[in-house]
Amino acid sequence: MDNPFARFAGTRTIQADLSLLEENYVPDSFPHRENQINEMVTILSSILRGSRPSNIIVYGKTGTGKTSTTKYVTKMLMEAANNVSVVYVNCEIYDSPYSILVAIANSAGEEKIPELGWPIDRIYRETLDRVERTGKFFIIILDEMDRLIKKSGGDSLYVLLKLMTDVDSVRVSMIGITNDTTVLENIDARIKSRLNQESIVFPPYNASEIKDIISSRLEKVLGSDVVDQTAINLCAAIGAQEHGDARKAIDLMRIAIEIAIRENRNKITENEIYEARERYEMNVIREAISTLPLHSKIVLLSAVVTQEIEPNSVITGEIYENYRRICDDLGFSPLSPRRISDLLTELADYGLLMMDDRNMGKYGRTRSFSMVHQAETIKKYLLEDENLSMFKSSKMPKQTRFDT
Ligand SMILES: Nc1ncnc2c1ncn2[C@@H]1O[C@H](COP(=O)(O)OP(=O)(O)O)[C@@H](O)[C@H]1O
Ligand SMILES: [Mg+2]
Repeated sequence: MDNPFARFAGTRTIQADLSLLEENYVPDSFPHRENQINEMVTILSSILRGSRPSNIIVYGKTGTGKTSTTKYVTKMLMEAANNVSVVYVNCEIYDSPYSILVAIANSAGEEKIPELGWPIDRIYRETLDRVERTGKFFIIILDEMDRLIKKSGGDSLYVLLKLMTDVDSVRVSMIGITNDTTVLENIDARIKSRLNQESIVFPPYNASEIKDIISSRLEKVLGSDVVDQTAINLCAAIGAQEHGDARKAIDLMRIAIEIAIRENRNKITENEIYEARERYEMNVIREAISTLPLHSKIVLLSAVVTQEIEPNSVITGEIYENYRRICDDLGFSPLSPRRISDLLTELADYGLLMMDDRNMGKYGRTRSFSMVHQAETIKKYLLEDENLSMFKSSKMPKQTRFDT
């Protein structure tokens, strides 16, 4: 027998620096975003003339280049002017007036301010002092700003606007980034009018634009003959279908290259893209499973093992019986059959199970479930939860259904 490691050894056919396709890598060229970059540069250029730029709101769906373009432009600004400080705030993490101030203060001074515990007026004064002491222009980027507003209404914006007017020697402005065009509709009219922002819109990309983007991103990663044009076209088509999302297209290409490298193939074709899509979708499923509540996970696990025993679709009663066994085995108290039936319907809504209602004549109606995805994979993802990791299928009975 040949050494099974042979295909992993020896020289790699494809050499590629895949970090250049990672999410947080900011490229230095943005095809089809020339106008948006130009608008942003024009507004921010007032700093070079010594005056405070207007606030900016950047609108656009996910994957349309908002975050990376904004990072690129502000980085260029810092290179062009030495009196600018840029604070990038991800509002998925920093979602209150307090945490926003902490982010600004920490970027403006050496000593770290605790994430909790100071009174808000103390942290406000400290932020103000620190910002003033630097003597620089401040640009606060509020990425995913809609999260912030959903969480704290206009309060955080109010605090920022106050900072903008209270600071004397230096000037603070903000760039808010959002995929929600209605984000400002529900905040206080006075805050809204003081915000006095300029808007920049990032429309979705079409397939031919995404094609250009992928090609430009690949230039530094691989030789031009390694990726088939048909593979680029397919990636672009998938990204365009998905609300013009360059992120998904680039992710698929990165995964496809990973697959080709790992398998020691010498080209990226449509096949590698299809495989990448499969893997991408499995990642989405894994994510969905990892965020399920405990009992939903146990029910899903029960559905998986019940199906392993009974390869056909399985009925609610059988899933419930095995669910109780698993609960027993792992030391959890089972929920009622009624609740489990609800959880099963919910799992079907999430697309993790397929539900089938059938009228069985004199036996009444039965509801049965079957796997949408490979049971083995679903089980693997479920057992990643430490509450379930002790589960052993060997303890399950070999057959639950009585032959009639
Ligand atoms: N015009 C473009 N040129 C090159 N790469 C782009 C372009 N637009 C988007 N990207 C890339 O696509 C991915 C998603 O972009 P991102 O800025 O995060 O989108 P958004 O913030 O709008 O969701 C990032 O990896 C980004 O570098
Ligand atoms: Mg973004």
